Amino acid sequence: MSTLAVYPGSFDPLTNGHVDIISRGARLFDRIVVAMLVNAEKAPLFTAHERVDIARAVFKDQPNVEVDTFDGLLVDYVQRRKAQVIVRGLRAISDFEFEFQMALMNRRLNDKIETIFMMPAEQYTYISSRLIKEVFSLGGRVHGLVPELVETRLREKVMARNP
Ligand SMILES: Nc1ncnc2c1ncn2[C@@H]1O[C@H](COP(=O)(O)OP(=O)(O)OP(=O)(O)O)[C@@H](O)[C@H]1O
Ligand SMILES: [Mg+2]
Repeated sequence: MSTLAVYPGSFDPLTNGHVDIISRGARLFDRIVVAMLVNAEKAPLFTAHERVDIARAVFKDQPNVEVDTFDGLLVDYVQRRKAQVIVRGLRAISDFEFEFQMALMNRRLNDKIETIFMMPAEQYTYISSRLIKEVFSLGGRVHGLVPELVETRLREKVMARNP
């Protein structure tokens, strides 16, 4: 039996923390689907289409990494994809409580799906999309914390907004 894992999130934008977790997942499972939640935030910085494009470009050389979008209940999407595993990343204690609640709720909704937590490399443990957006919009350097394509796209966004 081959194992399919789903790594859900908003990825607005993709960070090197996410890339680290996806790469670890791709080594562990036969296939990993990066599943972008479409309607999480009312006004994401990047559209779902832009977020998908970025992730596809970053993982274009990894054939067992797939990028998709989903909406609604995660367990419904996971079941529809016939996946067995939900992958989540754990940064610090601050992530634990929310992730613990979600994992147990998802198990209650569908106890055939297992949630697996992975820790990123130390240098990425403090990165979040929110922090990247905040630092970048204030003119701070995010080099090394996000894929180079994300840096480029962030610059284009800011230029489009304040030409
Ligand atoms: N730097 C990181 N290291 C490990 N896991 C991470 C990291 N950043 C996010 N994750 C995990 O990735 C999953 C998707 O997270 P999400 O899309 O919310 O990213 P985020 O960086 O937390 O964004 P936001 O700041 O908008 O909440 C979650 O399981 C989250 O814990
Ligand atoms: Mg988050």
